[in-house]
Amino acid sequence: MKTINIGLIGFGNVGQGFVKVLSKNLSIIREVYGYNVKLTYIVDPVKGSLYSREGLDLVKVIKYIDRDGNLRSHPNYIGEIHSFQPIYDKETDLIIEVTPTNLVDGEPGYSHIRKSLEEGKHVITTNKGPIALFYRELTRLAEKEGLYLGIEGTVMSGTPLIKTIRYGLSNDINIISGILNGTTNFILTKMEEGYTFDDALKEAQNMGYAEADPSMDIDGYDLVAKASILVNVTIDGDIKPSDISRISLKEYLDEKGYQKNLKYLVYLEINEGRYSVAPKVVEEGDILTSVKGVNNGVVIRTESLGEIFIYGPGAGRLETGYAILTDLLELLKTHMRIKR
Ligand SMILES: NC(=O)c1ccc[n+]([C@@H]2O[C@H](COP(=O)([O-])OP(=O)(O)OC[C@H]3O[C@@H](n4cnc5c(N)ncnc54)[C@H](OP(=O)(O)O)[C@@H]3O)[C@@H](O)[C@H]2O)c1
Repeated sequence: MKTINIGLIGFGNVGQGFVKVLSKNLSIIREVYGYNVKLTYIVDPVKGSLYSREGLDLVKVIKYIDRDGNLRSHPNYIGEIHSFQPIYDKETDLIIEVTPTNLVDGEPGYSHIRKSLEEGKHVITTNKGPIALFYRELTRLAEKEGLYLGIEGTVMSGTPLIKTIRYGLSNDINIISGILNGTTNFILTKMEEGYTFDDALKEAQNMGYAEADPSMDIDGYDLVAKASILVNVTIDGDIKPSDISRISLKEYLDEKGYQKNLKYLVYLEINEGRYSVAPKVVEEGDILTSVKGVNNGVVIRTESLGEIFIYGPGAGRLETGYAILTDLLELLKTHMRIKR
């Protein structure tokens, strides 16, 4: 049986969600795809790092992290290691990069991904920073090296928006418009029910949807990053987050107040090369009015098919872990067969 050795960098929400999703799918991957998947490294500065050449027992990893909140008493605990160790290990085939998003310089994810590709490793990431800032550079490097770079989880978690754009549609997309930030959509849904902005934000923070510093969401930085990723996937472009025009939801609400059917939209006019993130009142009956709470929904307008609508979760541990699983399956179906 063929083997794929995985190094996981980052063991927060998504890293843990992926291990849970993978543990449930190991036997299917073995039977259907003919691969023995081994998670050999987990690297995280605070939760602790693990290594096993034979592959970690995933159920045991889940037991320790759920019980202790860290991996320090796990038998395979290896203390402090540099995050590049799995990347430099000759036995590693795939790096899964799930460290925090940084939209200033993409670090540490950018260096992890770049170095992995230079070292001949396939990469799967859900980290928006490096993909939003360096899409062209990283995809070109992967192509040049004949390696897989999976990014499904960077937008809409496990809901397959990126695979739909890449493989499900031809080159005739005119407009992509949608709701891609669950936190602000939750806030707007609550405001529709009569909450003030401050109370709706507090509720979002209590529910664990919004950060203590909610600026990434309410000022549109998260959306701008997602918008640039979607444009680049659609046109194979080199659009940066700074090329997307952005209006802050918070500033808009301070100025104009809440209006019925107000949505915080990504609006990408692909043919015109005009890309924006802005609050917009959508028409009564528009399908986007049906997207409530933390869910996401995107309308893709194409030349041949007319409109299609993709709806589903936009975040979550298991949901984003599922995105990594679908990228892993794609890798096994495509590149690994060619490589070995
Ligand atoms: N959560 C979601 O629903 C979701 C959905 C789509 C995409 N994403 C993206 O997926 C990525 C992971 O998200 P998350 O929610 O899992 O974040 P998270 O809970 O903050 O987990 C990230 C983990 O990476 C660790 N880390 C930081 N620097 C590291 C380094 N140099 N080497 C190894 N580990 C390092 C962090 O440790 P410290 O705690 O010490 O910093 C933390 O444990 C982010 O880029 C996020 O934007 C998340």
